[in-house]
Amino acid sequence: MTTIEVKTTTADYAVKVKIGSLMTVAQAIKTVWTPRRIALITDTTVGALYADQVQTQLMAGGFTVTVLTVPSGEASKSWAQTMRLVEALSQAHFTRNDGVVALGGGVVGDLAGFVASIYMRGISLIQLPTSLLAQVDSSVGGKTALDLPTGKNLVGSFYQPDLVLIDPQTLTTLPQRMLVEGYGEVVKCAALVGGDFWKLLQSIQQPDDILLLAPQLIARSVSFKARVVMADEKEGGQRQLLNFGHTIGHAVELLGRGRWMHGEAVAMGLVAVCQVFEAQGLTPVGTAQAVAARLAVVGLPTELPDLALNTVLTAMRHDKKVHGDQLTWVYLAALGQPQLQPVPLTDLATWVAPALTTVA
Ligand SMILES: NC(=O)c1ccc[n+]([C@@H]2O[C@H](COP(=O)([O-])OP(=O)(O)OC[C@H]3O[C@@H](n4cnc5c(N)ncnc54)[C@H](O)[C@@H]3O)[C@@H](O)[C@H]2O)c1
Repeated sequence: MTTIEVKTTTADYAVKVKIGSLMTVAQAIKTVWTPRRIALITDTTVGALYADQVQTQLMAGGFTVTVLTVPSGEASKSWAQTMRLVEALSQAHFTRNDGVVALGGGVVGDLAGFVASIYMRGISLIQLPTSLLAQVDSSVGGKTALDLPTGKNLVGSFYQPDLVLIDPQTLTTLPQRMLVEGYGEVVKCAALVGGDFWKLLQSIQQPDDILLLAPQLIARSVSFKARVVMADEKEGGQRQLLNFGHTIGHAVELLGRGRWMHGEAVAMGLVAVCQVFEAQGLTPVGTAQAVAARLAVVGLPTELPDLALNTVLTAMRHDKKVHGDQLTWVYLAALGQPQLQPVPLTDLATWVAPALTTVA
């Protein structure tokens, strides 16, 4: 078992990583919660695989469990599902002494976290993330969210869990495309951390290797995210580093209209930002190639698709990292040495062009 302590201004909690930990989930939860009623929020896919097992364990541990299931997929991060869940809590007479346990990927984590943060002005929360993306990223840091028709994650709160319990064994049932997508996030973290973490990635030569090294990859990614979150809980400074690869990545995701998953678009964005900053002389030449090699071995895309420069620029100008007339980029002064660079919007075309040289 690896334990990473997260300390924030509102709560301190542990992130525990252990193969098979879902089999002893009640034991782990009892270290932070007294016996109480639990709303186990999950989605249709993860629920079918793991909810019975988790419910049985929790009941044997003295908890009373109500399972609440939402449809799998991003569309569940909605007001409609939020209303359904808070009404279900209310009808079952949940009080502030009870708790919400999120069992699923980032969608369930974001939605259940949001529900926990607003029900009775806040009910205790535990995260049991089951996708690689949720295990290395979304379950840690306390961001909860819903989507609006106008955009993703536009409603939400900062709300910390009492415990994050990660069982890498759950990744064996995750579809490969999603496993690989989550690995893109790991490559991003490793490039920001450098050193032994970056070296560890050399052992990953195919998607199955991700499963073999999952506990270490998760522990290192979470340690990094925890460090950043502790230094900057609400995204004023250091937390911006987590946006590495997202500036062009988001634009590509948006313009692809569903063709690429988020992590795939970010993979392209990671390589592109290194190319952009290599051209500026701020990132050592060869970095883009080194990052692309780590992504390509598992089948992540590394070359930007044919997108016209002006459409990419328009999408980038709407990025949430635009402040006033500047867009702040994250770049690598070297592997493991991330820096922030504000770029005036008027100069964006010149900066982005080197990453789009093959595009009309
Ligand atoms: N809060 C944050 O800090 C943060 C950070 C990054 C991403 N996010 C959010 O996370 C979401 C994406 O997360 P995701 O990629 O986990 O998506 P997801 O929750 O939709 O999971 C992807 C799919 O995999 C299935 N699944 C999950 N675990 C499984 C398992 N062990 N076995 C089989 N199937 C499984 C799910 O049912 C779903 O169909 C987005 O909504 C994004 O906005 C939040």
